[in-house]
Amino acid sequence: MTSILGIETSCDETGVAVVADGRRVLANEVASQIDIHKEFGGVVPEIASRQHTRVISQLTRKALGIAGIEIPDAVAVTRGPGLMGSLLVGLCFAKAIAYAWNKPLIGVHHIEGHIFAAMLCDSPPEFPFLALVVSGGHTQLVDCPAPHQYAILGATRDDAVGECFDKVARLLGLPYPGGPSIQKAAEGGDPQAFRFPRAMLDAPHLDFSYSGLKTAVLYTLRDDPGAKDRLPDLAASFQEAAVDALLAKTRQAMRETGARRLVLAGGVAANRRLRERLLADIDGDVFLPPFAYCLDNGAMIAAAADSRLRHGLTDPLTITPDAALPL
Ligand code: KG4
Ligand code: ZN
Repeated sequence: MTSILGIETSCDETGVAVVADGRRVLANEVASQIDIHKEFGGVVPEIASRQHTRVISQLTRKALGIAGIEIPDAVAVTRGPGLMGSLLVGLCFAKAIAYAWNKPLIGVHHIEGHIFAAMLCDSPPEFPFLALVVSGGHTQLVDCPAPHQYAILGATRDDAVGECFDKVARLLGLPYPGGPSIQKAAEGGDPQAFRFPRAMLDAPHLDFSYSGLKTAVLYTLRDDPGAKDRLPDLAASFQEAAVDALLAKTRQAMRETGARRLVLAGGVAANRRLRERLLADIDGDVFLPPFAYCLDNGAMIAAAADSRLRHGLTDPLTITPDAALPL
């Protein structure tokens, strides 16, 4: 058995996990900072990095204890993209313990981690596949022909879809983070009640745009005095428009590339409406990450690192974090 310690600190969750053979999660500890950042309506970077330093050693000790592993076979950590201060905490910590234990260090791209979350199950997807990456910072269609090879086919030209959920939640007076709040508010709402735009549907490219959708909600609230009293309808209509645009471009990408497998990745993968629509409307095999590993966590980083280790892709202790690391 190969055990990997995975550390994720790119944003506002401290995630530490131990994963066996790239697929069996022995421990997955996440210290969320949501309650700390809530009063600011979003993540405050300086507060986030300080909080990571406060909890990372205890959390690591706890994860190793739960896993029953004294020293893992390798140490994996998110190298980027993300908040520089937060990344630094995780990477410095990972380097220190890798050095102390004399074990390989593996730097992982945050999005590669999200893609590998779908591997944390009994029947993981095989390569090649297409990945739909939907998080707070990314909205991308990624061609994955072989392990650790990526080609971005399309991406958002403005807001990421998760960012759009967060901003619209704020407009609707719903708490941060917006994704889960909107999903909850949309329960029982009519997804056709308000007609919101689906951007770039007829465009030949595979890019997305989400700033127009956010503005459309803003204008509806401004111009329709009764709208704010119909919160479930508003939330459901917004969610449907956001999901429709993802579906349309994903179907287009599957058609154009001839891909037969789709892997969903990123925090917005937790959205139930998106999951059910993908299962219903995508022609091909759809692989959804388990709910427990959709949001930022250490297990997905360890899963990606397990494959990297098997491909001989380890890193020297001199690697540095990169807030804008390309995939
Ligand atoms: O991947 P993630 O945890 O962090 C980033 O890498 O950005 O994704 C966080 C994003 C947030 O924008 C959050 O609102 C969104 O994922 N999200 C959701 C849901 N749960 C989280 N969006 C829609 N529906 C959800 N259930
Ligand atoms: Zn993420």
